[in-house]
Amino acid sequence: MTRRILIAGNWKINTRSAAAASLAKGVVEAVGKSPAVEIALCPPSVYLSTVSEVTAGTPVELGAQNLYAAEDGAFTGEVNAAMLTDVGCQFVILGHSERRQLMGETDACVSKKLHAALAGNLTPIVCVGETLEQREADETESVIETQIRGSLEGLDEARAAGIVIAYEPVWAIGTGKVASKEQAEAVHAFIRDLLGKMFTPGVAEQIRIQYGGSVKPGNAAELLSQPNIDGALVGGASLKAEDFAGIINAAPAS
Ligand code: PGA
Repeated sequence: MTRRILIAGNWKINTRSAAAASLAKGVVEAVGKSPAVEIALCPPSVYLSTVSEVTAGTPVELGAQNLYAAEDGAFTGEVNAAMLTDVGCQFVILGHSERRQLMGETDACVSKKLHAALAGNLTPIVCVGETLEQREADETESVIETQIRGSLEGLDEARAAGIVIAYEPVWAIGTGKVASKEQAEAVHAFIRDLLGKMFTPGVAEQIRIQYGGSVKPGNAAELLSQPNIDGALVGGASLKAEDFAGIINAAPAS
């Protein structure tokens, strides 16, 4: 079973419209017409349309950083799945550690968003990861298991194969401290095994598990060549087309 590598850029709250368009153009030019891997850009929601105009008709796909799990209605300030597909999104990042920590998102809330994303034909990228304190207390596996079971609550086998998980150790996000390839691969293998128990081993084999946390052109090749690492969710290094392209080019062909 070959899982296609997925490299996604999480721009967080960065860029303005002109910078978003030129960064997207830079990525489109750098990746060419038939990249060996799948590529998605996740700009701030106000710039999704701007980026979509640049990426339309190219192999570069579009993702949002969040959604609100409701149909149209009285939810001031929120954006729903139908709006995201309307502006050209294929992906949506859910439960990023910054949202869990700063906006109080719980696993139950991520699970609601997951179902809304799937119902709206978006591929969810569900983020999980332990803090440094939890890793040092030897709680990594239990924390990840709780997050995955809770965030995927109610997900049926038929739909599970199409989701993406992003393992992002909180201590590695934006810190320059990347997990070693052994540390990352161990958690990815644990996650795949867990998904095999929750669904079936065959379904688990199809689910892509990205690594995130200080991925750079210089460390991408060794991470992406691990058997259970199927891509990268890239923050800081996705803000320069050259660096993001360097990560894409470091991926082994899948
Ligand atoms: P980073 O962020 O690459 O800047 O560490 C990754 C993420 O938060 O998705």
